[in-house]
Amino acid sequence: MKNIVILGSTGSIGTQTMDVVRNNPDRFKVVGLTCASRKEAMMKQAAEFGVPEEHCYVCDGDYDENVRKLIEAATLDCDMVVNSLMGMRGLEPTYHAIMAGHDVALANKETLVAGGSVIMKLVEEKGIRLLPIDSEHSAIFQCLEGNKGREIKKILLTCSGGPFRGKKREDMAGVTAREALKHPKWNMGPKITIDSATLMNKGLEMIEAQWLFSQPSSNIEVVIHPQSIIHSMVEFQDGSVLAQMGYPDMCLPIHYCLTYPKRLPSTAVNMDFTKPLTMTFEPPDLERFPALRIARQAMQCGGAAGSIFNAANEVAVQAFIEGRLTFDRIPAIVEETLNLLGPLPANTLDDILHADTLARAAAQRGIKERDMEKRGLCPAQ
Ligand SMILES: NC(=O)c1ccc[n+]([C@@H]2O[C@H](COP(=O)([O-])OP(=O)(O)OC[C@H]3O[C@@H](n4cnc5c(N)ncnc54)[C@H](OP(=O)(O)O)[C@@H]3O)[C@@H](O)[C@H]2O)c1
Repeated sequence: MKNIVILGSTGSIGTQTMDVVRNNPDRFKVVGLTCASRKEAMMKQAAEFGVPEEHCYVCDGDYDENVRKLIEAATLDCDMVVNSLMGMRGLEPTYHAIMAGHDVALANKETLVAGGSVIMKLVEEKGIRLLPIDSEHSAIFQCLEGNKGREIKKILLTCSGGPFRGKKREDMAGVTAREALKHPKWNMGPKITIDSATLMNKGLEMIEAQWLFSQPSSNIEVVIHPQSIIHSMVEFQDGSVLAQMGYPDMCLPIHYCLTYPKRLPSTAVNMDFTKPLTMTFEPPDLERFPALRIARQAMQCGGAAGSIFNAANEVAVQAFIEGRLTFDRIPAIVEETLNLLGPLPANTLDDILHADTLARAAAQRGIKERDMEKRGLCPAQ
């Protein structure tokens, strides 16, 4: 029996993790839960899975208070912590879960995007397993199983292209939050859905892959594959390409993490190769989706650039949802913030948190100044 703590149990990944547990009652026991606003939903989960009330944390206070509760949950006595939190608040709980010697199933990509330098070192030191839930990284992880140390030529991250794959560049500014919140393939939380529309999500995933698989930025490429059947691929030096396939369903990579290193039966719908199946591939358009170019800039810059990239994006997405920023300005704010702050160190958790704070302030200023320009006011007024 594996004892599991789920951080962010009420979200998209959290509830799908609960589905996996529900389907495997003899294998997994949930021993801790956290939520923010959906307390009722969490308490319903607690009642169903027999989680003691004192191990159910409602993080609806200020940032520091929430992170304190998340760390408390992440360090409960357990075998594995599933981190399905959204945003930078996921970093510190991951850090402390690893410090406590727990294996981590990681959906919270911000942990590695911002804190990869510190987290991967700690994983090594503590000898724990850090298993990716993100479907692309799960695919790469699976392709690399049995191929550790083999000569990797390229990691090919697949990308559906998002809802605006066919949209003209000049129409991007007019995209509304309502339009951006609809994803053609995946049903996800609001932040990642917007990130999928700008392709910032793929940019975050490029940085995440760099850390998880210790690859230089030049070895990581993105390929548009609208059917989302191949979840990612690895090309080796001999020219062989390994791919992992399945119908789009996050329960599969979650199930893989929870049951690893075994491959046990899951509820995933089996692929049917007796029916016609079309798979297409095309390169991403970096003009219409500059997020990928900016992510590569952050990867090449190194240090705390990932933290800056992530923080500026979180601020810009929030401003877009609140109607303070146009859709096409989201990547622009991230790029301006990266250029403004330049290289910063990322040797410690404090370095990373410091870069995050600076980037949030700079991005907020950038958004405000643009708003003032629009109203014909001087930013200094
Ligand atoms: N969704 C997907 O298919 C998918 C796929 C791959 C990777 N990911 C990654 O997985 C992570 C989670 O994504 P998601 O789509 O599951 O997000 P989500 O649906 O928005 O869920 C976020 C979870 O975090 C909790 N939360 C929100 N604000 C919080 C705060 N201030 N303090 C503590 N907890 C807070 C939420 O609680 P309440 O429900 O109470 O608000 C919820 O349980 C992200 O990093 C995302 O990029 C998601």
